[in-house]
Amino acid sequence: MKEKLEQANQYIKENKGRIDPVYRQGYHLMAPIGWINDPNGFVYYKGEYHLFYQYYPYDSIWGPMHWGHAKSKDLLHWEDLPVALAPSEEYDIDGCFSGSAIEKDGKLYLMYTGHYEREGIKREVQCMAVSEDGIHFEKFLENPVISEQHIEGVAAIDDFRDPKIVEHDGLYYSVVASKTAEQRGQILLFQSDDLVHWQFTSILLKGEKEQGIMWECPDLFHLDGKDVLLISPIEMEKKENSYENINSTVAFIGEVDWSTGRFTVDNHHEIDFGLDFYAPQTCFDEQGKRIMVAWMQMWGRNMPTNELGHLWAGTMTLPRELHVVDQQVIQQPINTIYKLITDKKRIKKEKLENSSIELDNIEAKQFYIELSGTLTQTENLAIKVLRTNESAVELIYEPATGYLSISRDSFGFKITGIETEQLTKRTTRVPLIDNSLLLEVFRDTSSIEVFANGVATMSMNFYEKEQSEPPSVSVTGMIEKLKINYGTIK
Ligand code: FRU
Repeated sequence: MKEKLEQANQYIKENKGRIDPVYRQGYHLMAPIGWINDPNGFVYYKGEYHLFYQYYPYDSIWGPMHWGHAKSKDLLHWEDLPVALAPSEEYDIDGCFSGSAIEKDGKLYLMYTGHYEREGIKREVQCMAVSEDGIHFEKFLENPVISEQHIEGVAAIDDFRDPKIVEHDGLYYSVVASKTAEQRGQILLFQSDDLVHWQFTSILLKGEKEQGIMWECPDLFHLDGKDVLLISPIEMEKKENSYENINSTVAFIGEVDWSTGRFTVDNHHEIDFGLDFYAPQTCFDEQGKRIMVAWMQMWGRNMPTNELGHLWAGTMTLPRELHVVDQQVIQQPINTIYKLITDKKRIKKEKLENSSIELDNIEAKQFYIELSGTLTQTENLAIKVLRTNESAVELIYEPATGYLSISRDSFGFKITGIETEQLTKRTTRVPLIDNSLLLEVFRDTSSIEVFANGVATMSMNFYEKEQSEPPSVSVTGMIEKLKINYGTIK
């Protein structure tokens, strides 16, 4: 692997100055150059967060997967590290696919999928790598540690990937994505006491017919008295306003029976209601809080930064703190982000009726807006976060239905997808709390993330073509006790 890593690191060093900076994010993790998808190996290790990612350094489209690597103290300022894994052995020659990390006896272990795909044969096996310093990794000589013989009669070897290691009662477990013979998603559970020898334990959870043809990127953790299984299904059927993207992300909330290795589901729901959010992964932070990051993109979409020849594609979401409340996984922005808000402004109005206001002095491409108000007499509330004469990136809330929508309409560089209906907008229900709404909006150069009343998030990319007008807020009807705090994020 050493040679492949040196080649990748050399390429990055020599070429990263060639990327076009125009759509580069300010406070979200991206690769120095090239393509990224899923977050991998998210872990708090020796006082710092490490985040790896699916990575193809040589082009801004998907290619044989490496693991890119960055670390951070606050989850917002990232330092790029050398590429951690590269395809090099027969079992991973066509890609080091997604996986996870765990610390044991001071060493950092990675568990990933070795992908082989040649001459009509596709094989996915689970592999391990280890590092003494958290930067340089060696693949295990025992690789693959989980392969055909572990899953005989349970799953096929061609769609079997994305191991997430968890520790429970002094044992290591790994949840791995696969599918049934009837093309339904299923998550398999494996067990080990030394990270080298693994046994199949059980099928943790099997999907229903409408829950997608394959599940990807499982994550399993205990939070606020519940067990939570996050998964990313391919082609989950649309239901009301949920699961409208080609691939979705779902949180199953319930309980694992560790004696049988089965997950009993009490509730499940989509994790994010935007257009660009996939393959989330979580870790514990230094205080034991559960933090989640996802790839802020979606398969099957065109990537403007690729089409424009910018030499990079893909970004991670803002890290989010998770909780379980009333059988729902809820998300809060990582609290270190608030320390980066400067040039703070405030608008306060007892009433605003059938009119609009502009949020002046926002010129930066990274900004924050917090809006709250009482909506008993509101017909419609609209925030144009970015706007030109013709189009906008817009949020609209209608108290009568409780629907919040986000849209990018025809704003900026055209983004299309393979969904049957062209998606430029998504909608979800956000109930008012005591007739009030609280929206937080985080804009970065080419993304927007919305946190609504503590229950829903919406994440979306856009690619601005001309400098937008300052954001505006308009009301049909009346909004009372309106408060808007805003500022730039630096
Ligand atoms: C999810 C995924 C994973 C796979 C990886 C390959 O986005 O398809 O299942 O490991 O991407 O890059």
